[in-house]
Amino acid sequence: MKFQGSNNYVATQDLMLAVNAAATLKRPLLVKGEPGTGKTMLAEEVAAALGMPLLQWHIKSTTKAQQGLYEYDAVSRLRDSQLAGIEDSARVKDIHNYIVKGVLWQAFTADEPVALLIDEIDKADIEFPNDLLREIDRMEFYCYETRELVKAKNRPLVFITSNNEKELPDAFLRRCFFHYIKFPDATTMQQIVDVHFPGLKKELLAAAMKTFYEIRNLPGLKKKPSTSELLDWLKLLVAEDISAEALHSQDNMVAVPPLVGALLKNEQDVSLFEKLVFMQRHHR
Ligand SMILES: Nc1ncnc2c1ncn2[C@@H]1O[C@H](COP(=O)(O)OP(=O)(O)OP(=O)(O)O)[C@@H](O)[C@H]1O
Ligand SMILES: [Mg+2]
Repeated sequence: MKFQGSNNYVATQDLMLAVNAAATLKRPLLVKGEPGTGKTMLAEEVAAALGMPLLQWHIKSTTKAQQGLYEYDAVSRLRDSQLAGIEDSARVKDIHNYIVKGVLWQAFTADEPVALLIDEIDKADIEFPNDLLREIDRMEFYCYETRELVKAKNRPLVFITSNNEKELPDAFLRRCFFHYIKFPDATTMQQIVDVHFPGLKKELLAAAMKTFYEIRNLPGLKKKPSTSELLDWLKLLVAEDISAEALHSQDNMVAVPPLVGALLKNEQDVSLFEKLVFMQRHHR
């Protein structure tokens, strides 16, 4: 059971190593990296490549750890008990009917091994990761309402992603295998683009990549464009049938590229880039 990358996803050697290391250690793989560097997609692709169903848990600022385990729907039970006829009363009596299983419960009790994605764990409050320590470690938890211990039949393959908005507690980190997805170098980026746009014209790709890395390397940028933004931009360039020459001025100097809104996402960055273009023109 080894992950080798897939047709839709370019995985570097160290990323494949990390996925397989986490699987060997039977620990969650904690993936960090800039937005749009393929963290979420990694879990989807590994699950697909290994033929496992993927259970996804997308974390928000209001998400509580308990919701991943189960929730007791007391309101429905009360309503049912008030409205129920005699034939329904058996249903109301059985508390199991009002336990809403969370993703961890589903993952633990699935018949086949599954992959589990806990996406953007840093969005939740600081207690969230601490509240899941035991579940992740021992792969079990106790349901007080039904008085049962829910234990994993098969250990799920767990992926946890973070955008680094909050630090994660040390005790939590100890239980994970960590991998940082570095921003792809030009060669890897070419492979990623190839996966998405197999027939792209070479000149357009070269010109677009040059502009893209020029923008990315601009010092002082508030939000650097990432892989997914390059892909968006290329899609637009193809759709609008823009030629490679249009990305650079006649004298091969930097120019503000068409449809720059796909790459730069705030006005300060756009004006910074325009200033650079202006200065280049006047310092020749
Ligand atoms: N290695 C890669 N191979 C193929 N496509 C990629 C790769 N990395 C990123 N992409 C493209 O970038 C898009 C964004 O990826 P994804 O949503 O996984 O990013 P993310 O790291 O989870 O971002 P965020 O932190 O914003 O959630 C994907 O839909 C895919 O098209
Ligand atoms: Mg994501």
